[in-house]
Amino acid sequence: MDELGLEILLDHYKDPRNFGHLESPDVVGEEGNPSCGDQIRMELKLKDRRVEDVRFSGKGCAISQAAASLLTEEIKGKPLEEIRKMGRREMLDLLGVEVNPMRLKCALLALKVVKGALFDEHEWPDGDDEGEDEFGF
Ligand code: FES
Repeated sequence: MDELGLEILLDHYKDPRNFGHLESPDVVGEEGNPSCGDQIRMELKLKDRRVEDVRFSGKGCAISQAAASLLTEEIKGKPLEEIRKMGRREMLDLLGVEVNPMRLKCALLALKVVKGALFDEHEWPDGDDEGEDEFGF
């Protein structure tokens, strides 16, 4: 595993960015990983078709919480159309470490919650790999 990536991930786990709640979010999403019961909640404030502000809360493993923290930093200020295009690959690139297929849902849960909240898309974020389902989704 890439050492710098691991360090960044652990830093986000121990000191999560944008953790907490917004006073009056425009959109809220909350979903869990059915294989472990962990939950992530995302609260978003929107302006001019962009994410103006975002907070997350929830409980989960280091990967899911670090992924949520990294994702909030990534999407703050981003146009909604760009967020809509984010998939499995973008999320794994953002995470910066290799994820065991067994932990893939941990890595993708935050993005799933964001896409569910913003676009009513509730399936697990897919790759750009048509029909391929190496992870059993
Ligand atoms: Fe539950 Fe990772 S073990 S989200």
